[in-house]
Amino acid sequence: MSHDSPAPRPGPSSQGTARRAGPLKGTCRVPGDKSISHRALMFGGIAGGTTTVSGLLEGEDVLGTAAAMRALGARVERSQGGLWTVEGVGAARLREPEDVVDLGNSGTGARLFAGLLAGQPFTTILTGDASLRKRPMARVTDPLSSMGARFEGRSGGRLPMAIVGTGTPEAIHYRLPVASAQVKSAVMLCGLAAEGVTTVEEPEPTRDHTENMLRHFGATVVVADNGAGGRIVTLEGRPALTGGHITVPADPSSAAFPLVAAALVEGSEVRLTDIGRNPLRTGLMTTLQEMGADLGIENERIDGGEPIADIVVRHSALKGVEVPPERAPSMIDEYPVLMVAAALAEGKTVMRGLGELRVKESDRLQVMADGLAAAGVEIETGEDWMVVHGGGGKGPAGGVTVATHLDHRIAMSFLVLGLVSENPMTVDDVAPVATSFPVFEDLMGGLGADIDFGGDAR
Ligand code: S3P
Repeated sequence: MSHDSPAPRPGPSSQGTARRAGPLKGTCRVPGDKSISHRALMFGGIAGGTTTVSGLLEGEDVLGTAAAMRALGARVERSQGGLWTVEGVGAARLREPEDVVDLGNSGTGARLFAGLLAGQPFTTILTGDASLRKRPMARVTDPLSSMGARFEGRSGGRLPMAIVGTGTPEAIHYRLPVASAQVKSAVMLCGLAAEGVTTVEEPEPTRDHTENMLRHFGATVVVADNGAGGRIVTLEGRPALTGGHITVPADPSSAAFPLVAAALVEGSEVRLTDIGRNPLRTGLMTTLQEMGADLGIENERIDGGEPIADIVVRHSALKGVEVPPERAPSMIDEYPVLMVAAALAEGKTVMRGLGELRVKESDRLQVMADGLAAAGVEIETGEDWMVVHGGGGKGPAGGVTVATHLDHRIAMSFLVLGLVSENPMTVDDVAPVATSFPVFEDLMGGLGADIDFGGDAR
């Protein structure tokens, strides 16, 4: 599916409703990978020369990054047919933005720009929407302060926040206290401006799109095992980055919604094309396979340096499983929709090590627990875990309205639940869906789902 302009965002707080209907059938390509799209625009903007990007996610989070890069002096343009072009500043350096930079709902934007701007010799003020203004920033400002930048934020280091950057940051060795690709990337982006080698040690491997793309643009990035299940990433400072072409695969985190929907709705068969298969992003697929999902991985290939494949999913009965906590970084954004899959499985699904879900666009553990319980799903939950007792193929009662708390993945997860619950599920606000999956309603409708943005449960 290709769109020449981003989908218009629905009005404020419009509801969305999903109802049971026939099987899901067809072929589709979900929008481009959000993580790779942010990085393509940011890294293209600091590299020398021209970067071209095909398959960019034209969702609000990424469009916010495009606007921020323009405010910082890069030329970012979309041409006919959806190819994006970035003229990077290269050795000329970024320029101080004239106004506050608003990153909307995007935690990735906020953390990665904090790193990038910490290494620039000027002051930038970052802000975002009500969700982003609640999210913790100390996880990036702590290491970036030790590299020489200064930050003035609200209590708890939250946005709006001023970043007083330094043109001469210090290279550090940093051990991540949480498994977070955003924090790793922030330290590496500041490390680009440092003399010497910046090292980030991660307790568990997290998505490595920053490492891959910086290398693609000419940086020296070396990744080694730390001997304890984690990784050590080293980056040589002050590389001469040169732009190139980036092909953005379809986002496995967006594919998760039609994928789980097709697995749950009887009689379904859906082909999802060009899905990113980076091994640090495939945790949901592994878990669904363990649950007995009928998934075919076809046409595996490498495109633009990333492994991709088509995924064919057919309805099948699922059984509950224990999800190993060390798998969490490879499926961190997919837990909400996994909880929906678990609600239909036979027996219980145990998910542990979910602490990071509490600091996403919403407190996803709490919001999912509340919504699932209201819909009639039997759950147990604690500080960083959830157990879902599945209905063995039978959907829950549904028939309720769930608050999405400005969280796209909460909205889409409960709409998927509405496709298999006895009564429709309504979410109070579908506007956030446009941050990552602006064509969700049309794409799901094209497969035969009854999802209506702007409707009420009847
Ligand atoms: C992202 C990393 C993840 C993920 C987010 C995108 C990235 O966050 O939840 O949607 O692009 O680096 P953490 O690294 O903080 O877990």
